[in-house]
Amino acid sequence: MAELLTAGVVGTGMYVPEKVLTNADLEKMVDTNDEWITSRVGIKERRIAAPGETTSSMGAAAARAALADAGITAAEVDLIITATITPDMPWPSTACFIQRALGATRAACFDVEAACTGFVYALSLARNYVATGMYRTVLVVAAETLSRITDWEDRNTAVLFGDAAGAAVIKAVAPPAGILATHLGADGSKGELLEMPGGGSRHPTSHETVEARMHFIRMKGNEVFKHAARAMAHSNSEVLAKAGITIDQVDLLIPHQANMRIIEAAARLSKLPMEKVYLNLMHYGNTSAATTAVALAEARRDKRVGPGSLCLLVAFGGGFTWGACLLRL
Ligand code: COA
Repeated sequence: MAELLTAGVVGTGMYVPEKVLTNADLEKMVDTNDEWITSRVGIKERRIAAPGETTSSMGAAAARAALADAGITAAEVDLIITATITPDMPWPSTACFIQRALGATRAACFDVEAACTGFVYALSLARNYVATGMYRTVLVVAAETLSRITDWEDRNTAVLFGDAAGAAVIKAVAPPAGILATHLGADGSKGELLEMPGGGSRHPTSHETVEARMHFIRMKGNEVFKHAARAMAHSNSEVLAKAGITIDQVDLLIPHQANMRIIEAAARLSKLPMEKVYLNLMHYGNTSAATTAVALAEARRDKRVGPGSLCLLVAFGGGFTWGACLLRL
C-alpha cells in the first residue's frame, strides 16, 4: 500500500445567526432564571436562526469563510462532509444543499450523524480520505439549527441549546503539522437518554407524535451529565496515548460546549488547568456538532492558537457517542 499522507487543518470558518436570546429573554418564556442557568450550566446567551435560515445556509456561510481562510475555491473541493442532527430535511443530505450553495460541483457529498460528537467523527473521516490520497481537499461542516427541535415549553432543555455552524478545510500538510490521532467511541445502549424520537421509521410523523412532543430534544440531563465528563477524559487519554503525547504538551483543549461543570470535570480528570481550556458556551450555548468547530475557528481567528499549536478537540453526545482529535496546526 502507498505511504499515507499527513492530513491537517488548513482553514477554518464559522457563522452564528444575528439574533441573541439571553437568559433574561428565557425568563419570560419558561419558569427559569439567569442565576440558575449561569450557575448550573454556564450559559448567558445563545443565537437563534432567523426564519429563512437553515442548517445548510449557516453551514455554507461557515464553509465560505473556511475556504477563504484556506485560500481555496469551491471548485477545488473534492468532498463535503456535513455533521448535523438538524438537517435541512431527512434527505437529500445537507452536504448536497451546501454543495449547491457553494457551487462546489466536483465534490462528493454526505452527512454524518454522531450528535454532538459529529465534528470529531467527520474530522476523523476526512483525515482518512486525505491520508490515503483518495481525496485532496475535504470540507468538513458542522452545522445545527437546534432551535427548530427545542421544546420551548420545557425548561429542562430550552435553556441549553443554540444555533451555529463551523467548518474546516482538510488537506495534506507537512509534518509536524497535522491530525496526529483520533479516537471514536459509542454506546448504543444509552440512546434513550438523549434523543429526538419522532419522525423516523420507528415513530413516523403523525398527529400523535406531534401531540406527544416527540419531534423535540428529550434528555435525562443528570444521566447524560454523569457519563459525559468520564467519556471525554477517556477519549483524551486514548488519543494522547495513540500519538505518544502527554497532556502537559497540549496548548489548548477544545471541549464540546454543553455545560461548564462537565467541562471543568473533564479537564480535572484529564489533569489540564482551565487556563488551557477554550470556553465559548456562555455566548452560544450547546450547538451540538457545531460547538467544537466554532471554537476551533474562533481560537484560530483570535490567535489563541497558531502554527505549531497542539489542540485537543473532545466531544460527547447522543448515541451515546464520544471522541477526540489531536491536532497540530
Ligand atoms: N431553570 C430553573 N430550574 C430548572 C431548570 C431551569 N431551566 N431546569 C431544571 N430545573 C430544576 C429541575 O426541575 C430540578 O428541580 P427539582 O429538584 O425541584 O425537581 C432542579 O432544577 C435540578 O434538576 P437536575 O436535572 O437535577 O439538575 P442538574 O444539576 O442535573 O442540571 C442540567 C441540569 C441539564 C443542566 C445538567 O444535568 C446537564 O447539563 N446535563 C447534561 C446536559 C448536556 O450536556 N446535554 C447535551 C450533552 S451533549
